[in-house]
Amino acid sequence: MNVKLLTAWQQVLQSCKVKQGESLVFLLAEHSHPEHVEASRAAASTLGARVLSLQLGETTMRAAGETTAYIGPTSLTGNLPAVAAMKSADMVIDLMGIDRGTEQQEILDAGTRILLVKEPPEIFMRLLPTPEDKRRALAAAEMLKKARSMHVTSEAGTDFKVEFGQYGMLVQYGLADEPGRWDHCPSTFVATWPTERTSNGIVVLDRGTTILPFKEYVHTPITLTIEGGYIRKIEGEFDAQYLRDYMAKFEDPEGYAVSHLGWGLQKKAHWTALGMYDKRQTNAMEARSFYGNFMFSTGPNLEGGGTRNTPCHLDIPMRGCSMSLDGQPILDHEKIVPEAMRA
Ligand SMILES: [Fe+2]
Repeated sequence: MNVKLLTAWQQVLQSCKVKQGESLVFLLAEHSHPEHVEASRAAASTLGARVLSLQLGETTMRAAGETTAYIGPTSLTGNLPAVAAMKSADMVIDLMGIDRGTEQQEILDAGTRILLVKEPPEIFMRLLPTPEDKRRALAAAEMLKKARSMHVTSEAGTDFKVEFGQYGMLVQYGLADEPGRWDHCPSTFVATWPTERTSNGIVVLDRGTTILPFKEYVHTPITLTIEGGYIRKIEGEFDAQYLRDYMAKFEDPEGYAVSHLGWGLQKKAHWTALGMYDKRQTNAMEARSFYGNFMFSTGPNLEGGGTRNTPCHLDIPMRGCSMSLDGQPILDHEKIVPEAMRA
């Protein structure tokens, strides 16, 4: 038993308000990290929780054999006994990866809280959520919730405007600590989805941008032309060609929609970390969370309350961006402005 990991899990579960006598379901598949399986269940038992493990079969479809990038039906899809067990639990520790917006919403609507963990133990322990992370994320979310417009610029040539108000919020601080709350541990960022067809402008993915699920740093800048809420052109050299071909293979025009937009808030996360791990080791939550990144994304908006449900989903944390909400500066060349953090 990895004692440090056990201690980390105890801290996370306590922060998720796990109490003696609560029922916890551990959702497992063959690709679940064995150290997390062992330590999380042991930690729950030490807190006096009732533990039930659900070991599901493997999901048959995967994107290029990649379990951390896959979006779509899973072995939970249509598995009514498994869904029923999770709906009657107080909390689900998802070490498999439920398809977002489908059974997951049904389970959350029943009041069950869900914590997803896919990062390896080293990243999980290094970026362990703190009360300060939560405070920072909730303060940022409060500002974003009130905002009706966003303007993003960069020296690389980004000049992009969007309006908000139609959809909900995505606030991640790594803890599922309220009934019906979902979170992904570790992660620290906020985002919301644009009002339909209001995104317009140019987004330049400069060298050093990370594109997920590729888990690669862009080496040749990519220029995205966005009109009426959708990417209309993808221009550049090799990286643009790769992105164009990846998106085209889904044969789904909705994959080109602008999806959630927000910024990273985790000071312990590093932009460089993604380059240090094998692609199958990490789900890249560190890349999504590093402090001051502007995260652009494409594809679905089901989680925000929309109807767009496409498996073509890219999260794209960018460096060097300036961003304002309703004219109030939030990011200044990747630095979160102090006034924004006091809110
Ligand atoms: Fe996303």
